[in-house]
Amino acid sequence: MSGPKHEPEIVHVYDDIKEADARLPNWWLYTLYGAVAFAFVYWIAYHEYKTSRLPIDQYRADMIAAKQEEAKKLLAMGDLTDDKLVEMTKNSQLVEQGRQVFTTTCAACHGPQGGGIIGPNLTDEFWLHGGKPTDVLRTVRDGFVEKGMPAWGPQLGEAKVRAAVIYVLTLHNTNVPGGKPPQGEKVATR
Ligand code: HEC
Repeated sequence: MSGPKHEPEIVHVYDDIKEADARLPNWWLYTLYGAVAFAFVYWIAYHEYKTSRLPIDQYRADMIAAKQEEAKKLLAMGDLTDDKLVEMTKNSQLVEQGRQVFTTTCAACHGPQGGGIIGPNLTDEFWLHGGKPTDVLRTVRDGFVEKGMPAWGPQLGEAKVRAAVIYVLTLHNTNVPGGKPPQGEKVATR
């Protein structure tokens, strides 16, 4: 370790503790001056002349654009029918998206494979609230809050709800081993 080039001047001694006034190293000073200059230029550019959007405004604009894009896609799909939902279960990308939603949001109550824990078994042919794809969509979107099934529409948004429903439809009739006993009415086909 090499000490400072000039002995720092001792400016204060108290109880044998010496306080020295050493010159700050140049790299430190230039970093400080640089930060001050940057802050000044940033302030003039972003806040006074508004040459471009603040990062937070840009973020908000991007989020709105993404939401509009999503809304456009949903609109393009038109009104959802049972047939359309069944058709969507053939789209592996949607199913995978739904599997991810299911794993993070639904598995805690319905089990990782849908066999049911607090919530009912989703892999059998029995349904409490209707087994038609549009029934399942309504169940997931609006929930049965007083029975312990949350309403996911407001929390997840329409696209994720649909993906989750599509995934749930693929679980139908997989009858995972160790699943909860059937509840509700038997619905032969979906
Ligand atoms: C907090 C626990 C909980 C979570 C999380 C949960 N559910 Fe449920 N779910 C329930 C319960 C409880 C019921 C049964 C309600 C009843 O008895 O009427 C249910 C019912 C359902 C049903 C109706 C089953 C039938 O037999 O008609 C479907 C479909 C369903 N949930 C899908 C989902 C999906 C998809 C998710 C994730 C987006 C999810 N659930 C997350 C607790 C939960």
